[in-house]
Amino acid sequence: MDYDNLLDLVKKRRSIRRFKPDPVPDEHIDKIIEVARWAPSGFNMQPWEFVVIRKPELRNKIVEYVMTYWDQGKLMESTREAWQGRPWRLKGVVDSGMDYTTAPVYILLLGDKRTRDGLPMGVRYSEERFQLIFMSSLANAFMHMHLAAATLGLASQWVSAVTTPFAHCMIKDLLGIPNEMVPYDMMALGYPATKPGGKYLRDKGEMVHFDDCSTGDFRSDADVRDFIKRARSWTMGAHQKKADPR
Ligand SMILES: Cc1cc2nc3c(=O)[nH]c(=O)nc-3n(C[C@H](O)[C@H](O)[C@H](O)COP(=O)(O)O)c2cc1C
Repeated sequence: MDYDNLLDLVKKRRSIRRFKPDPVPDEHIDKIIEVARWAPSGFNMQPWEFVVIRKPELRNKIVEYVMTYWDQGKLMESTREAWQGRPWRLKGVVDSGMDYTTAPVYILLLGDKRTRDGLPMGVRYSEERFQLIFMSSLANAFMHMHLAAATLGLASQWVSAVTTPFAHCMIKDLLGIPNEMVPYDMMALGYPATKPGGKYLRDKGEMVHFDDCSTGDFRSDADVRDFIKRARSWTMGAHQKKADPR
């Protein structure tokens, strides 16, 4: 592996939100988890647990719980500041180009809060520092999963709404997950039924700073607002393009 291979891989890894129903071989799932378990974690506490969800009746239940948030989310979107442009006007997951419902496998990544006891005292007894280390560790494992999926020609999507309070407790109850476990995020996994579009990236020049910095070296409030407008309009345009009738 050299730099160019790595860059190719990180470019290849994209969120793909429409899946063929074809099953994912067990060896591929094992390979994805193998890569994830090598992820760096704070003080090597490896707080992760992976729940592989293949049974359709369980996946359907999860979709149902997540959809509960979708309705709330749409209402909340209607309160967004006018300067950000067009509000999010999607009708539902399936017609939004963000359809994880047909993915044949979900992998729920959990964090085991009991690993907090093994962290240095200065982390263990600070809620803020604990959250930072715990969540960063889980993020690393999750990113490794997405990269591994990309190398196997698989599509993957974050389904972060599994962490809403409602979905959190319902999914834990559904799957018999103990209370100490915190759902970090869920990956929808399968073979891609669509190709990702272009990606709107910030310029490198505006985000890299050397040595002594001052406020003027960073984006102004107006710059950030402008970026938010452009990035939202790009993303919503991309989703709308993918929302073709099947
Ligand atoms: C922490 C985090 C949470 C995300 N949650 C969701 C999600 O709930 N649903 C979704 O479709 N994409 C989600 N994404 C994917 C982002 O929208 C996506 O990474 C971003 O638009 C860039 O596109 P790319 O992944 O194709 O590079 C999430 C990404 C991250 C890093």
